Amino acid sequence: MKRRTFFNWAGIGLLASYFPVALAACSQTNDDSNTTAQTTSNRPSTGEFVSLGTVKELKSTGYLLNEESQVLVVKDSEDRLWALNPTCTHQGCIVEWESATNTLLCPCHNAKYTANGKVLAKPAPEPLAVYEVKQENGEILVKASS
Ligand code: FES
Repeated sequence: MKRRTFFNWAGIGLLASYFPVALAACSQTNDDSNTTAQTTSNRPSTGEFVSLGTVKELKSTGYLLNEESQVLVVKDSEDRLWALNPTCTHQGCIVEWESATNTLLCPCHNAKYTANGKVLAKPAPEPLAVYEVKQENGEILVKASS
Protein backbone atom coordinates (compact mmCIF):
# COMPACT_ATOMS: atom_id res chain seq x y z
CA MET A 1 0.00 0.00 0.00
CA LYS A 2 1.28 3.41 -0.91
CA ARG A 3 1.94 5.87 1.84
CA ARG A 4 -0.69 8.33 0.51
CA THR A 5 -3.38 5.60 0.32
CA PHE A 6 -2.59 4.52 3.88
CA PHE A 7 -3.11 8.08 5.24
CA ASN A 8 -6.40 8.45 3.31
CA TRP A 9 -7.78 5.24 4.89
CA ALA A 10 -6.48 6.22 8.31
CA GLY A 11 -8.21 9.62 7.98
CA ILE A 12 -11.54 8.01 7.09
CA GLY A 13 -11.21 5.61 10.02
CA LEU A 14 -10.48 8.44 12.43
CA LEU A 15 -13.45 10.45 11.14
CA ALA A 16 -15.75 7.40 11.46
CA SER A 17 -14.68 6.85 15.07
CA TYR A 18 -15.78 10.41 16.01
CA PHE A 19 -19.17 10.15 14.25
CA PRO A 20 -20.99 8.15 17.01
CA VAL A 21 -19.72 10.60 19.62
CA ALA A 22 -21.19 13.50 17.65
CA LEU A 23 -24.55 11.68 17.34
CA ALA A 24 -24.63 10.88 21.07
CA ALA A 25 -23.96 14.52 21.89
CA CYS A 26 -26.91 15.59 19.73
CA SER A 27 -29.30 13.01 21.17
CA GLN A 28 -28.48 14.00 24.77
CA THR A 29 -30.39 17.27 24.29
CA ASN A 30 -33.49 15.41 23.05
CA ASP A 31 -33.52 13.10 26.10
CA ASP A 32 -33.43 16.10 28.43
CA SER A 33 -36.41 17.77 26.73
CA ASN A 34 -38.50 14.57 27.08
CA THR A 35 -37.79 14.48 30.81
CA THR A 36 -38.95 18.07 31.15
CA ALA A 37 -42.17 17.31 29.27
CA GLN A 38 -42.98 14.42 31.63
CA THR A 39 -42.43 16.43 34.77
CA THR A 40 -44.78 19.17 33.63
CA SER A 41 -47.76 16.82 33.06
CA ASN A 42 -50.63 16.83 35.53
CA ARG A 43 -49.69 13.43 36.96
CA PRO A 44 -49.91 13.70 40.73
CA SER A 45 -46.58 13.50 42.42
CA THR A 46 -45.53 13.44 46.02
CA GLY A 47 -45.74 16.83 47.64
CA GLU A 48 -47.98 18.72 45.25
CA PHE A 49 -51.69 18.83 44.55
CA VAL A 50 -52.76 19.18 40.92
CA SER A 51 -56.19 20.07 39.61
CA LEU A 52 -58.08 17.26 37.92
CA GLY A 53 -61.19 19.30 37.18
CA THR A 54 -63.92 21.30 38.84
CA VAL A 55 -66.55 20.37 41.39
CA LYS A 56 -69.13 21.35 38.75
CA GLU A 57 -67.68 18.82 36.26
CA LEU A 58 -67.65 16.11 38.93
CA LYS A 59 -71.32 16.77 39.74
CA SER A 60 -72.38 16.65 36.09
CA THR A 61 -70.51 13.45 35.12
CA GLY A 62 -70.37 11.64 38.46
CA TYR A 63 -66.62 11.14 38.11
CA LEU A 64 -63.45 12.77 36.75
CA LEU A 65 -61.05 10.66 34.69
CA ASN A 66 -57.69 11.64 33.28
CA GLU A 67 -56.27 8.56 31.54
CA GLU A 68 -53.03 10.34 30.65
CA SER A 69 -52.22 11.03 34.28
CA GLN A 70 -53.95 7.82 35.41
CA VAL A 71 -56.25 9.41 37.95
CA LEU A 72 -59.93 8.74 38.54
CA VAL A 73 -61.92 10.75 41.10
CA VAL A 74 -65.31 9.51 42.26
CA LYS A 75 -67.78 10.62 44.91
CA ASP A 76 -69.39 7.75 46.79
CA SER A 77 -72.96 7.56 48.11
CA GLU A 78 -71.84 9.15 51.41
CA ASP A 79 -70.38 12.18 49.56
CA ARG A 80 -66.77 11.12 50.20
CA LEU A 81 -64.21 11.86 47.48
CA TRP A 82 -61.83 9.14 46.34
CA ALA A 83 -58.91 9.52 43.93
CA LEU A 84 -57.49 6.31 42.50
CA ASN A 85 -55.31 4.93 39.76
CA PRO A 86 -57.98 3.44 37.43
CA THR A 87 -55.61 0.83 36.00
CA CYS A 88 -56.91 -2.62 36.95
CA THR A 89 -54.33 -4.63 38.87
CA HIS A 90 -55.18 -7.78 36.91
CA GLN A 91 -54.06 -6.93 33.38
CA GLY A 92 -54.19 -3.16 33.16
CA CYS A 93 -57.59 -2.25 31.72
CA ILE A 94 -59.17 1.03 32.84
CA VAL A 95 -61.93 0.50 35.41
CA GLU A 96 -65.30 2.26 35.15
CA TRP A 97 -67.29 3.96 37.90
CA GLU A 98 -70.71 2.40 38.56
CA SER A 99 -72.52 5.03 40.62
CA ALA A 100 -75.65 2.88 41.04
CA THR A 101 -73.70 0.21 42.94
CA ASN A 102 -70.97 2.51 44.29
CA THR A 103 -68.28 0.27 42.77
CA LEU A 104 -65.54 0.30 40.16
CA LEU A 105 -65.92 -2.38 37.50
CA CYS A 106 -63.27 -3.63 35.12
CA PRO A 107 -64.76 -4.17 31.64
CA CYS A 108 -62.14 -6.75 30.65
CA HIS A 109 -62.63 -9.63 33.12
CA ASN A 110 -65.22 -8.21 35.58
CA ALA A 111 -63.00 -7.51 38.56
CA LYS A 112 -64.83 -5.26 41.00
CA TYR A 113 -63.48 -2.72 43.49
CA THR A 114 -65.00 -0.55 46.23
CA ALA A 115 -65.01 3.23 45.74
CA ASN A 116 -61.76 3.38 47.73
CA GLY A 117 -60.08 0.72 45.58
CA LYS A 118 -60.40 -2.46 47.67
CA VAL A 119 -60.97 -5.69 45.73
CA LEU A 120 -64.57 -6.97 45.86
CA ALA A 121 -64.33 -9.55 43.07
CA LYS A 122 -61.37 -11.30 41.43
CA PRO A 123 -59.41 -11.77 39.24
CA ALA A 124 -57.85 -8.51 40.49
CA PRO A 125 -54.96 -9.56 42.76
CA GLU A 126 -54.46 -6.24 44.56
CA PRO A 127 -56.34 -3.04 45.43
CA LEU A 128 -56.11 0.07 43.24
CA ALA A 129 -53.58 2.73 44.21
CA VAL A 130 -55.23 5.56 46.15
CA TYR A 131 -54.20 9.24 46.03
CA GLU A 132 -54.94 12.14 48.38
CA VAL A 133 -57.81 14.29 47.16
CA LYS A 134 -59.42 17.49 48.34
CA GLN A 135 -61.87 20.10 47.20
CA GLU A 136 -60.72 23.73 47.23
CA ASN A 137 -62.08 26.89 45.56
CA GLY A 138 -64.32 24.85 43.27
CA GLU A 139 -61.44 22.61 42.11
CA ILE A 140 -60.76 18.91 42.71
CA LEU A 141 -57.11 18.61 43.71
CA VAL A 142 -55.18 15.34 43.77
CA LYS A 143 -51.79 14.39 45.20
CA ALA A 144 -49.95 11.07 45.20
CA SER A 145 -49.53 9.61 48.66
CA SER A 146 -46.10 10.05 50.19
FE1 FES B 1 -59.29 -6.05 34.94
FE2 FES B 1 -58.68 -8.44 33.98
S1 FES B 1 -57.86 -6.51 33.44
S2 FES B 1 -60.14 -7.95 35.49
